[in-house]
Amino acid sequence: MKQTVEILRQRISNAITEVTGIENCDPIVRLSTNPDFGDYQANGVMAIAKKTKTNPRKLAEEIIAKLSIEDICSPAEVAGPGFINLRLKPEFISKQLMAMEKDLGGTLGFEKTKKPQTIVVDFSGPNIAKQMHVGHLRSTIIGDSICRILESIGHKVIKQNHIGDWGTQFGMLIAYLKQDNPEVIDNPDSVHLSDLEQFYKNAKARCDEDADFAEAARKEVIKLHNKDADTMRVWQHIVDESRLHYQPTYDRLKADLHQENERGESFYADKLESIVEDLRKMGLAKESDGAICVFPDGFKNKEGNPLPLIIRKSDGAFLYATTDLAAIRYRADELKADKIIYVTDARQNLHFEMVFAVARMAGWVKEDTELCHVTFGSVLGEDGKPFKTRSGENVKLKDLLDGAVTRALSVVEEKNPELDAETKSNIAKAVGIGAVKYADYSNNRTSDYIFSFDKMLAMEGNTAPYMQYAYARVKSISRKAKANNINIENELAGLKDLNLVEPAEIDLAKYIMSYGEIINSAAVDYRMNYLTAFLYELAQKFSSFYTNCPVLKASDKSRATRLLLCRLTAKCIGQGLSNLLGIDVVEQM
Ligand code: ARG
Repeated sequence: MKQTVEILRQRISNAITEVTGIENCDPIVRLSTNPDFGDYQANGVMAIAKKTKTNPRKLAEEIIAKLSIEDICSPAEVAGPGFINLRLKPEFISKQLMAMEKDLGGTLGFEKTKKPQTIVVDFSGPNIAKQMHVGHLRSTIIGDSICRILESIGHKVIKQNHIGDWGTQFGMLIAYLKQDNPEVIDNPDSVHLSDLEQFYKNAKARCDEDADFAEAARKEVIKLHNKDADTMRVWQHIVDESRLHYQPTYDRLKADLHQENERGESFYADKLESIVEDLRKMGLAKESDGAICVFPDGFKNKEGNPLPLIIRKSDGAFLYATTDLAAIRYRADELKADKIIYVTDARQNLHFEMVFAVARMAGWVKEDTELCHVTFGSVLGEDGKPFKTRSGENVKLKDLLDGAVTRALSVVEEKNPELDAETKSNIAKAVGIGAVKYADYSNNRTSDYIFSFDKMLAMEGNTAPYMQYAYARVKSISRKAKANNINIENELAGLKDLNLVEPAEIDLAKYIMSYGEIINSAAVDYRMNYLTAFLYELAQKFSSFYTNCPVLKASDKSRATRLLLCRLTAKCIGQGLSNLLGIDVVEQM
């Protein structure tokens, strides 16, 4: 089934060609924000009138005269300076919804992309031997949802977890482990790092106060870079132990990331030398104050001087940027990416801008390969300052999720004391984790937001519990139908056309139809809040439909139509939450 905007765009574009001779021009069709202006609006006529030097209202009228949309809309109207207002016919809405119903197990009828691309998505990227903190929450879940949405549209997605597993801090970690647990060299599995954060802090403290130890740590870095076998074994152990910490967090968050998606910094270690060499040979890299730098065009510091991207320090060490250059080259050459998306906080913006510029100057990415840095704001505490624990430390992601589930459990205990313990615990997990994720998604991605358990766990407003409850409520209708001996499958099998009469049912029907359009725009802007806003509005429209239009007690003429509306509402909410946002739904709450 073609999206309604697509069909309208095509038809109007054809009419424009007939009137003006201009081919393939975009009539800018949008969902109307105000029902007084119809369901869709074409806003592109004014620009064409300007180009052709005609009166926009007159042009709009001529276009309408040539427009053949009788099968979709009632007669189009000109509004204001030259907008075209379009109102859908119930027959057309009925046709689109029937198509959605036929594709219930699939994409709910929305068309996949005509140009499938290979898209590399770089997200999460925790730093080994440190606990994941709340900043990694955003990268992990936003990145995961971007992958889900792009895949649902038909792109090939390659996930890359660029874990921080190769910095100088490894010298200190390895030296610390070797000193305190010499057995780790021969038998790594004998040592467990039950608290990574503490382990990291201890190693750092020792490095600061003991000069001999600091020296040993430096030697370990060199040994690591030379791939000394003993050192590599200990390093591998630290990486493996870290994975035991972050993998369960991914699983809880339903982030579909696994070891096979890891291409950490260490993966590129052997490629850094040639990155620097190749840039030198091309004459792009040069020495400056002992370091090797590239000065990409257009980047200036505050004083207006060219800004360097340092790729090798004077002591010979490579940098974060060098690794990212190796990574971008690998993704273009080996992974054959048409597009590469990086999901990190906004503070890394300059870094990526410069890496992109250098990679293009070097010809490592083709001109038509898209490079996108998808940024996000910070998570703040209730005081509006960066989110920290009382003692001023970063909040560990694990503690945050535990807190959400515990709070959700007490809400369930209070609301549904009669449920058995296992059911309660499952609902609490779905609601607690769902609340944290949904709160993040429903905010404008690029803004900071205040983390508040009370707000995200509220049963009212645009929250996960509200949406999960809305889902459970729609689903309860099929249970009630069964109890009333109504066979939904039989009723729907007999349905040929929808009988849309009541304003609330027409309103709901039209809204359901725009599901595919919303997913497409979320995919274009990488903004999950479009989807959460849609789901919330859908739940509200359903609510007013359900208040105004009886379903099981409806007349024979209306019942099947209304049952279908219930089914499609449940499907959109269920699919949106669970398939696209990775938030569990529950059948009862
Ligand atoms: N490890 C980095 C951090 O914690 C994120 C990595 C992002 N990806 C990249 N290719 N640089 O900030």
